[in-house]
Amino acid sequence: MQTGAPTEKQVGDTHTPPGLPSGTAQRIGVPREIFPGEKRVATMPEVVQKLIKLGFTVSVESGAGEEANVSDEAYRAAGATVIEGAAKLWASSDIVFKVRAPTADEVALMREGSSLISFIWPAQNPELMQQLAAKKVTVLAIDALPRMLSRAQKMDALTSMAGVTGYRAVIEAANAFGRFFNGQITAAGKVPPAKVFIAGAGVAGLAAIGTAAGLGAIVRANDTRAEVADQVTSLGGEFVKVDFEEEGGGGGGYAKVMSEGFQQAQRAMYAKQAREVDIIITTALIPGKPAPKLITAEMVMSMKPGSVIVDMAAEQGGNCELTEPGKAVVKHGVTIVGYTDLASRLSTQSSTLYANNLFRLTEELCKTKDGVINVNMEDDAIRGLTVVKDGQITWPAPAPKSVPAAAAKPAASAAPAAKKAHGHGGASEPMAGNKLAIMFGVTAALFWFIGANAPAAFLGHFTVFVLGCFIGYMVVWNVKPALHTPLMSVTNAISSIIAIGALVQISPITGAAGRPDELIRWIAAGGIVLTAINMFGGFAVTQRMLAMFRK
Ligand code: NAI
Repeated sequence: MQTGAPTEKQVGDTHTPPGLPSGTAQRIGVPREIFPGEKRVATMPEVVQKLIKLGFTVSVESGAGEEANVSDEAYRAAGATVIEGAAKLWASSDIVFKVRAPTADEVALMREGSSLISFIWPAQNPELMQQLAAKKVTVLAIDALPRMLSRAQKMDALTSMAGVTGYRAVIEAANAFGRFFNGQITAAGKVPPAKVFIAGAGVAGLAAIGTAAGLGAIVRANDTRAEVADQVTSLGGEFVKVDFEEEGGGGGGYAKVMSEGFQQAQRAMYAKQAREVDIIITTALIPGKPAPKLITAEMVMSMKPGSVIVDMAAEQGGNCELTEPGKAVVKHGVTIVGYTDLASRLSTQSSTLYANNLFRLTEELCKTKDGVINVNMEDDAIRGLTVVKDGQITWPAPAPKSVPAAAAKPAASAAPAAKKAHGHGGASEPMAGNKLAIMFGVTAALFWFIGANAPAAFLGHFTVFVLGCFIGYMVVWNVKPALHTPLMSVTNAISSIIAIGALVQISPITGAAGRPDELIRWIAAGGIVLTAINMFGGFAVTQRMLAMFRK
């Protein structure tokens, strides 16, 4: 394992052929981003150190971190080799970390048998996919990560970037808006709080809600997926419903295109909000479809002069009819911000988060910590990410085999086979009539057998046990999955009822069995202390968890 700072000589030595012997450290290369206006960089000095600890050597193109406020010197100090020029960097790298999808020129610089980890957007870039396949490389598209896997969250760059863009959208709005966000009463007069309406409460929308509420604005939000209402409220916003009943989930936590009836009712509600609020931030997206047009030209005209719209969907066509992607324009007295580089405008923060996401992915790829990645196609998360494997296009990936309970429901239609194979279906799917009859028959026979043969004392306990199971089932079954953790913690606290046993043991009152000896009393005292921690701690933790839902 190589842990020290590599020397220039090693750079030339690292044309590691594919299938290199295990234990030979691979070189991770980080080029400078060349997309116009892109300020992010795919690794940061603190992450370089961690990659070296995993056994890799790291090279960074000179100036790669400049726009994210990281100097070549900082990378060198962290143990990376700084290389002049993209051609040398790409040629000497076994694995390239990038932010933006590579251009055709960059693909041309790639070495056969090397790997690339980057945003790719395979659905939107079929030509790039062909170029990458022709180069016989392996490509992991960070945007293709199966996000519903809880294990994938630490690698989820879409979520971390959306968090940054949501925050930055509010800052851009505040910059363009002529007033405070919070209400103030000053000697010079009373200032009302700004009213902000957020269209789309996904990851970016929720980050915008939290930021705007934190600045003191009155925040309202809407989403077609009704399940986000609680999340909006928990961040200090008010969820505004559309007066039309329709399920908005399109599977996997994403939205679908809504019916014309819904859209009409939604337009009426948005028109009302446009007249009332000062700032609209739109984040609404539907995977694989153009962004829904939610803010019409008439709505813009109806807004108060000096109002602001930040259209975060600008790159996908925009949620507002008057948005000009990449620009901030003033139309009908309203500033419409259509920047498509919001994450890049907070380049140090977004680079840090992105670098951490890639590090977590590298950990998954290199479990042996020997500086060699293993693109294991049996691993759900890695399989989902891998869009080209040794020159073969492997995108789109089949649905992941293991989907967590919360995501299983929306994903059900997409992966019925996978669900069955892993036995997730039993609880949520209605059971077939004959199966149910067999189950009841077997249970009845079992009870009859126990009743006819078991001793009377056992039957008493058994009755209590069965009733306990039944009541427990009825209580727990209808609790939403999101509340299972607080439920566990409160049941944990309730289990501290065993304190009563310890109290009986410690009691000085002499019962029929006589007074317990000193040792037992001391053990009982210890039991009371421990159980008290469990009891009060359990209730305290439950309260804190429930507060997260209530706030
Ligand atoms: P996104 O960027 O595709 O969409 C943004 C939001 O716009 C979504 O909330 C969507 O419902 C909403 N939207 C679409 N059309 C709309 C319309 N006509 N009107 C109003 N709103 C509309 O989605 P994003 O933010 O990337 O993720 C969405 C959801 O996916 C999250 O809220 C979460 O539930 C789920 N997710 C789950 C993850 C996990 O399980 N680890 C990780 C990331 C996301």
